[in-house]
Amino acid sequence: MDFRSRHVLSIADFTRAEILHILSKTREIETSPRIDMLAGKVMATLFFEPSTRTRLSFEAAMQKLGGRVIGFSDAGSTSTKKGESLADTLRMVEQYADVIVMRHPRDGAARLASEVSRVPIVNGGDGANQHPSQTFLDLYTIAKLFPELTDGSRTLTIAFAGDLRYGRTVHSLLSALCHFRVRLLTVAPRGLEMPQQYLDEAAAAKVEVEVVPSLQDAIDGCDVLYMTRLQEERFPDPLEFDHIKASYRISASMLQAARPQMRILHPLPRVNEIARDVDATTHAHYFAQAGNGIPVRQALIGLILGAL
Ligand code: CP
Repeated sequence: MDFRSRHVLSIADFTRAEILHILSKTREIETSPRIDMLAGKVMATLFFEPSTRTRLSFEAAMQKLGGRVIGFSDAGSTSTKKGESLADTLRMVEQYADVIVMRHPRDGAARLASEVSRVPIVNGGDGANQHPSQTFLDLYTIAKLFPELTDGSRTLTIAFAGDLRYGRTVHSLLSALCHFRVRLLTVAPRGLEMPQQYLDEAAAAKVEVEVVPSLQDAIDGCDVLYMTRLQEERFPDPLEFDHIKASYRISASMLQAARPQMRILHPLPRVNEIARDVDATTHAHYFAQAGNGIPVRQALIGLILGAL
């Protein structure tokens, strides 16, 4: 399977076999690190939106493989501020780097970049659209916890909770899970439900999706609870936000009836939706999940640059 020079824009561009290949290469690189694999290669990180995990884990992944990193985390310090277009910025950066990781607030910006750039583009998140490297790390995390995901020996129940409308990580993950034997539960505030196009995708893949009435129902009935942040800026009425916020918060006391093996994932950052007392429970897995970003991103860069 050849991934050389391939753009990573949307999880929808990857077949089940390709996803499994990336997960297998991630396992390989995690168990046998190769410190000089990308010596002489340069990665550019162009972050037009804030990030902690995605940018830093891509940069750490590259450096741990012997490569170098250039880039910016604040477009305000670049010539974008003087009016330079995204296309012109990319025409410059492609001359400095072998691969470009980009985060941008506009849906579709990564695909647009791929039409301009001569070097591969990795989408580090574009608007409310896609965040494919997050999805690979989410899948890798779930498969490490529950090998049934990839061996298909049991139907896993995965619950999505929070802002399912604008949260790009849940969109990418739902699309990817359509390749596997899963049942999905969803719970979201009114107006922030999963968009119809993703429900249609699940239906086409014969994946059952059940809307459950409360967060507690989701907790009690799933193997994996994928929690997301409620985005205050999406609510027109601050009072409504305060009310909803209280009903979308997990605390340790709510985990009493959860399955013993149930694990809580979250792409992070969390704000209020997971109380600190959950961190000490066996169900909390979000920090370990973020740690999986390193081997997953090492595998992606290694494959794209033809080193794996
Ligand atoms: N999960 C994630 O995308 O985190 P950052 O926004 O910190 O990159």
